[in-house]
Amino acid sequence: MVSRVTLLVLLLTLLCIQSQGTGRYLEVTRASSFFVRSIVTAAANGGNGPFFGGGGRFDIYGHPNVTGHEVVTTAVWIVGERDDRTLDAIQAGWHVNPALYGDSKTRFFTAWMAADVTGCYNTACEGFVKSDTAPISPGDVLPISTPDEIHELMIWIEKDDKGGDWWLYASTESTTSGKVGYWPKSLFSKLAQNATVVNYGGFVQVKKGSVSPPMGSGHFPNDTAAFFSNVEYVDEFGRKIAGNLPSVVTNKNCYDVGNMGDATFFYGGPGGCVN
Ligand SMILES: *[C@@H]1O[C@H](CO)[C@@H](O)[C@H](O)[C@H]1NC(C)=O
Ligand SMILES: *[C@@H]1O[C@H](CO)[C@@H](O)[C@H](O)[C@H]1NC(C)=O
Ligand SMILES: *[C@@H]1O[C@H](CO)[C@@H](O)[C@H](O)[C@H]1NC(C)=O
Repeated sequence: MVSRVTLLVLLLTLLCIQSQGTGRYLEVTRASSFFVRSIVTAAANGGNGPFFGGGGRFDIYGHPNVTGHEVVTTAVWIVGERDDRTLDAIQAGWHVNPALYGDSKTRFFTAWMAADVTGCYNTACEGFVKSDTAPISPGDVLPISTPDEIHELMIWIEKDDKGGDWWLYASTESTTSGKVGYWPKSLFSKLAQNATVVNYGGFVQVKKGSVSPPMGSGHFPNDTAAFFSNVEYVDEFGRKIAGNLPSVVTNKNCYDVGNMGDATFFYGGPGGCVN
C-alpha cells in the first residue's frame, strides 16, 4: 500500500504543468525543470481510489515579487492514473503565474490535462465549460489576505452521478458558492471513470538554477502559515470523508506541511532553494 502511494507521489513530483510561450497550453514535462511542491494526498485506501470528488477551503495570498517563469499555486488536484501510467488531471485554486497573464496578481484558475499532454489553463482551449451563472470565472483576480484580514477560496470538485462530468464549485467570502462549470468526462479516459488521487496543497515552480519562490503565505507551518481546512473527498459510495491524510513534502529546506488534524493543515515556506 505504502509503496504504491510513494510511487504515485514520485510520479506526480516529476510531473510539471508548465506554461509555454503565451502560456496557453499545458505541457507536461518529466523532470525537465526544477520545481518543488508540498502536497497532502487522499490515499486513505492506498492511493488507488476510486475517488469521485474533493475540496476544501484555503486562504489566498499575494506574491507581488513572483516574476518570469516562476509559478506559485495553491489548489485541489484530482488525478486519475491510466493503465499506461500517464495521468488525467484537473485542478482549481489560486495561482500567481506571470508567464500566463503578464502580471503578478493572484488569480482564480482552473486547469485540465489528459494523458499527460492535452489540456490548458482556464478556458484557453476547448475543454472546461463555464457555467452562465458562474460566481467567479477562471482568471479572475482574487482578494489577498493581509495580517488583519484573511481572504479564503472554497473549492469543491465532484463527479456528477448521472452525466459523469466533473463539476467545479467555488466561492470567496464575497460570492456565494455556485457552479463555475464542468470538465466533460469525454476529455478523459481514467477520469471518465474515477480518480486515483485527490491532492490538496501548494505547488511552486521555477526554472532550473533559479531561486525558488515562496509557497502559501511564505511562512513555514505555524500560526502565520497558510492553511487548508474542511479537507474532504468523496469515496466510491458517494460519502464525503473528512479524513486526516498522509502528507508529502518534496523540499523540506524551503517548504513544509504541518500535521493534519480536524481536516485542517498548515503548509508553505519562504522558498529560496536553488537547484
Ligand atoms: C518584495 O521585494 C521587496 C524588495 O526586495 C521586499 O522589500 C518585499 O518585502 C517583498 N515582498 C514580498 C511580499 O515578499
Ligand atoms: C474505477 O475505474 C476503474 C477503471 O480505471 C474501473 O475498473 C472501476 O470499476 C471504477 N470503479 C468505480 C467504483 O467506478
Ligand atoms: C513561524 O515561522 C516563521 C518563519 O517562517 C518564523 O519567523 C516565526 O518565528 C515562526 N513562529 C512561531 C510561533 O514559531
